[in-house]
Amino acid sequence: MAETYQNFIGGTWVPASKGETFDSANPASMDEVLGTFPRSTAEDVDAAVQAAKGAYHEWMQTPAPERADYLLRVALLLEERIDEWSELMTREMGKTLKESRGDIQEGIDFLHYMAGEGRRMQGMTVPSELRGKFSMTVRHPIGVVGLITPWNFPIAIPTWKIAPAIVAGCTSIFKPAEDTPLLATLLVKAFEEVGLPPGVLNLVHGFGEDAGAPIVEHPDVRAISFTGSLEVGRMINERCGALMKRCSLELGSKNVMIVMPDANMDLAVEAAAWGAFATSGQRCTATSRLVVHEGAKSEFTERLLTRVGGMKVGNGLEPDVELAPVINAEQKQRVLSYIEIGKDEGAKVLIGGNELTGEGYEKGNFIEPTVFDEMTPDMRIAQEEIFGPVTGIIRTDDVDEAIRIANSVDYGLSAAIYTHDITNVFKAITQLEFGIVYVNAPTIGAEIQLPFGGMKNTGNGHREAGPQALDEFMEWKAVSVDFSGKVQKAQGID
Ligand code: NAI
Ligand code: MG
Repeated sequence: MAETYQNFIGGTWVPASKGETFDSANPASMDEVLGTFPRSTAEDVDAAVQAAKGAYHEWMQTPAPERADYLLRVALLLEERIDEWSELMTREMGKTLKESRGDIQEGIDFLHYMAGEGRRMQGMTVPSELRGKFSMTVRHPIGVVGLITPWNFPIAIPTWKIAPAIVAGCTSIFKPAEDTPLLATLLVKAFEEVGLPPGVLNLVHGFGEDAGAPIVEHPDVRAISFTGSLEVGRMINERCGALMKRCSLELGSKNVMIVMPDANMDLAVEAAAWGAFATSGQRCTATSRLVVHEGAKSEFTERLLTRVGGMKVGNGLEPDVELAPVINAEQKQRVLSYIEIGKDEGAKVLIGGNELTGEGYEKGNFIEPTVFDEMTPDMRIAQEEIFGPVTGIIRTDDVDEAIRIANSVDYGLSAAIYTHDITNVFKAITQLEFGIVYVNAPTIGAEIQLPFGGMKNTGNGHREAGPQALDEFMEWKAVSVDFSGKVQKAQGID
């Protein structure tokens, strides 16, 4: 029997008020259950919001360096637990052990980074036009916030939201993805262990419509930070618009890698294989389009196929496995249906294209690494996020056309170019409509000290991580002190 876990509300572990539960399963072996979790509803969300509201006043007055100290302590705990948690992460969401480790490391790195923010959190001093008047800006926490996360980075993404919320002085309700409730619970337990005051971080498990939507709707929640699908993000954006809430969205993409004839082919092939197939393509920065110059195409294609053909698909716990399962049966069907769409549109499957069903694959969600050729920019498989081990090659004749193709999608998260030509490099840097641009590096593998987020439908202008991380959770307050002993009127009025 798998262990039963609970919600964390106001510093207490409690079941869902309706008593319902759901299980978390291993995508490599769906009959292995990692735990049973509360299936929460609006009632549970309301209890969590009340707890967050109750804790807010005291918390926002706690000095920022003191708030930040909890982050540092959690980082140190995670360092001790990285091996144990990586294995649990691989069992809960499938990706390889190395990648699970990287996910937790990213969380640790960001906790360290945000812990430092507690002693920065700078504002500005600005001159006044009047004598005896002093002006400055200070940051102010936005209040109670809702954090809704996906399953592909079960520690890193929640950390990207929880850490800045905490250091900012916000109190929060965290609703993790229903596919990765175990890792979310472990993370919240770590905050409990280091003594974070009750109500500052509340955990409500459950499904999107039952437990996510009530957070968005709750009148006392001032801001929503969401990472997930465009479809849900658009809905949240509309609701937050109507309710006058701040909302920051990170909604995936249709990322691209451009390969020019002067590219170092060893590096370009490896970057494409890693960018397209790490986490089985289930990264918002996954390389799902390869725009390859005619002068490089035959060599690049041949070498990529050799590389992909040698990938072992299997359980992410096995050390030589490169391609792990996709998260659940629904996603598997979704990815397979996109492969059919690609074939119907006239793209040619060069390798892969099928579900794996034989020995070792019976109980999991395994799909072969799939590469299409003859993909054209207007095809659905070149426009829509597939979120699986599928990529495709689009041919091009010059860098300007390559950039036009790269930009011809509604998303704009991550783009890469492989070239050594300085003109190509600067055209890419200045013209690509993507929030993250790499030169001679893969589209995946963002570092936490840089802002993360995208243009167009990838989001709504906010950035996570980097020096911008606090902006999601803080307001700017303009403060002026008049010590002139007079009532002074600005703009020359006397
Ligand atoms: P999703 O967008 O449905 O789920 C993400 C989170 O939102 C989960 O915590 C979910 O419970 C919550 N949610 C769902 N409906 C909600 C609602 N009405 N109100 C509030 N919260 C809600 O993503 P899902 O179903 O896991 O994956 C579907 C597709 O989304 C993927 O194939 C992929 O294209 C995209 N996706 C993109 C991600 C990224 O990193 N950008 C991450 C996960 C999914
Ligand atoms: Mg969904």
